[in-house]
Formats: sequence, structure tokens, C-alpha cells
Amino acid sequence: MSGNVRPESMERITTRALAEAFIEEQIAEVRAQVGDKKVLLALSGGVDSSVVAALLIKAIGKQLVCVHVNHGLMRKGESEDVIRVFGEAMDANLIYIDATDRYLDLLAGVAEPERKRKIIGEEFIKIFGEEAEKLEGISFLAQGTIYPDIIESKGVKAHHNVGGLPAWMTMELVEPVKLLYKDEVRVVGEALGLPHAMVYRQPFPGPGLGVRCLGAITRDRLNALREADAILREEFDNNNLNHVWQYFVAVPDFKSVGVRDGKRYEGWPAIIRAVNTVDAMTATIEEIPYAVLHRITDRITHEVEGINRVCLDLTPKPIGTIEWE
Ligand code: XMP
Repeated sequence: MSGNVRPESMERITTRALAEAFIEEQIAEVRAQVGDKKVLLALSGGVDSSVVAALLIKAIGKQLVCVHVNHGLMRKGESEDVIRVFGEAMDANLIYIDATDRYLDLLAGVAEPERKRKIIGEEFIKIFGEEAEKLEGISFLAQGTIYPDIIESKGVKAHHNVGGLPAWMTMELVEPVKLLYKDEVRVVGEALGLPHAMVYRQPFPGPGLGVRCLGAITRDRLNALREADAILREEFDNNNLNHVWQYFVAVPDFKSVGVRDGKRYEGWPAIIRAVNTVDAMTATIEEIPYAVLHRITDRITHEVEGINRVCLDLTPKPIGTIEWE
């Protein structure tokens, strides 16, 4: 897609028919741009990179090489979904890198949030770069840039974007959805046959669970967080609450006293946060029914090793940010 300005005449993609027309147009454009060369894509499993992957698989098949780096900070089942959807169902050329140990070793003992973010971002670029160097004959780099990224490129996303372009990479870019808004990317994703849950999933920060496992990350607390978060998501699905913009669990790095089976049982608290927002600049609290909260509390405290309390964060933004750190 040439040019970085969305033409005023460009119709908003709201229907499947419009999405299909867009897809056909992009397939032709990508084929013309790329020819018989290879394209590399960092596939996080987020909406934007997933839609770009599906589009490029359709356009150029195995000429696309997808690299999925599992930093060990993914939510439960996410890397498995990437392998299942892209590696298996779409038969993509997918390289899966389990970098969990590398990340968790680097992050051990690091409590300061911005340092954690920096380590996670820099390590991603290093690993992706190492992989890019191993591959032969790659001529293009695909990115899931969307229109708000272009508009705000000097703003929030720049420091948020873990998968940003490394300076040493001078490859020509392939950015087929760069003039689309998020809602349009989703419509295109569904038309490409991606699972609804993948296309409509809630935003997830690049540093993943790393900024929700508060303070210095430990493996046992990270695992507890991942399990508690999976229960929260499951209960939101079961109780028709998955329209909520963002809902997650944060686990602080201190324990409280509890009892289990008549014995003292020290554990971490799981903090639930569920917010609604339009642009993430301000956010309001979702009023989760108490019956659902009771069920979530019951499940988390009984099913997750190491958690003995559940707390609810009622703070809007401002004054609280959406993430805890
Ligand atoms: P805050 O916490 O600043 O979050 O109110 C606003 C939105 O940004 C997401 N967020 C991040 N996204 N990398 C990202 O890609 C980050 O480091 C990061 N920190 C916050 C947050 O989940 C929310 O959607």
C-alpha cells in the first residue's frame, strides 16, 4: 500500500464484501511489490500481525516467513493458538522460538517497570535479529502497522511498540493494513478466516504478563498469574462480559496470610481489573455482577496454586493507569 495518508475517498470497511474487495486489491499489490522474493514477519499473535500474516499467506504463501517469539510472558494458550492457526490450519512457514528462559533469566531480580519493559523490548529485537540473520534471501519486512500508528507515531505507540523496526534492518517494508483503522482490520481478519476470538481479542501490552507480574518476576508467581488470568477470561466468556475493553489479573510481589484445610496458607493476592475505554487515555470501571465475582474468587483461590485472595481494582483512569506498572 503506497503513501501514508488515507485518501478521503477511501470507504470505511464495514462489511464482508468491502473487506473481500480490499483483500483482493492488497493481494495484487503485495504480489506486484514482492515478486518471487521472501518476506519476514514478526507474528506476535496480536490482531494486527495476525491479520497481516493471514493476508500475506493468501497473497504469497510460503514466500512469507513468520517468526513467533514466545517471551514466556504470553497469556495461557496464546503461543499454542499461533501454532495451531498459522502453522497448522494455514500451513504457514512459521518459525517458533521459545525464548522463555532467556527472558526470565534476564528479568530475574529486575523490579523497576520501565527497566523490565526495556529488557523485554531489546531482547525481542535481538532474538528477531538473530533469526533474520540466519535466514537466507529475505528481501522484505512485513509489519502490522495500522493507521492510528501512523497518526500517533510520535506518541504513545512509539514507546509501547515492542516489535518496532530495528535500526539495523533496512529492508523494504510491506504494510498492507497501514491505512486501516482497528475496526476495519478486524473485519478484514474475519473475512480472511481468522478465528473470531483472535480478531476481536482485547488489547494486550507488548511486554505481556511481564507488567502484570508486579515487581521482580518469579516463575512461580508468573505461572499463578497466568492461570488466574485464564480463569478470569474464561468466566468473562461464560458470563457474556467479553465485550469489556480490557480485563486482566495483576499479581503483586507480596503475600498475605490465609488458611487452607485448617492450616496456615500464605499466598499472593490476585487483583482483578476490568475497564472500558475508547482510546485508552481515560477509562471507566466495568461493574461486574457480584455473582460472577464470587465465582471467579472461588475458582482462583481453589484452582490456582499460590493465590489465597482476590481483590477488585475500582480505580478509573485517571487516576489509575490501566496497567499497574
Ligand atoms: P496505561 O497503563 O498507560 O495503558 O493506562 C494504556 C493502554 O496501553 C497498554 N499498555 C502497553 N501496550 N506496551 C504496549 O504495547 C506497553 O508497554 C504498554 N503499557 C501499557 C495498556 O494495556 C492499555 O491498553
